[in-house]
Amino acid sequence: MAVERTFAIIKPDAVKKKVAGQILARIEASGLEILAMKKIQLSEQGAKGFYAVHKARPFFADLVQFMTSGPVVALVLEGEGAIKKWRDLMGPTNSQQAPKGTLRGDFGTDVEQNATHGSDAPETARLEISYFFNASEICAVTEALPA
Ligand code: CMP
Repeated sequence: MAVERTFAIIKPDAVKKKVAGQILARIEASGLEILAMKKIQLSEQGAKGFYAVHKARPFFADLVQFMTSGPVVALVLEGEGAIKKWRDLMGPTNSQQAPKGTLRGDFGTDVEQNATHGSDAPETARLEISYFFNASEICAVTEALPA
């Protein structure tokens, strides 16, 4: 399987519940590598731009309101099949339908407050990573220090 990068967000509901650390621990346990990470408060303009593909949807205004309701943690993840691997860890979009053991099943509430976001395809991942991170902020060196 090809090594891929994907973009992830720990959303305001999960940050507010203080489960960001548990989510990061699951990422590390899964074997996905964290290449970049930052905690930020999205502006209204920033959230609207990020979710522009959904701007005609009836839930768009609520989604923007939610995503700007508190800080988020943005991440670049890398690994074999990282896009699907991260989506499998998250579970289905609607937390009410997400099985226990998935991030959205364990930490989300509903279809909007669903704890995490992940890119759905390689091109989306490239766009989303570049929306949040400069190339210089992405750490491509993953080897451990010598003992
Ligand atoms: P995410 O993976 O961040 O991508 C788009 C987001 O829109 C999705 O997670 C949900 O949080 C949100 N979303 C999708 N469908 C609905 C809906 N029917 N009502 C409210 N929010 C939605």
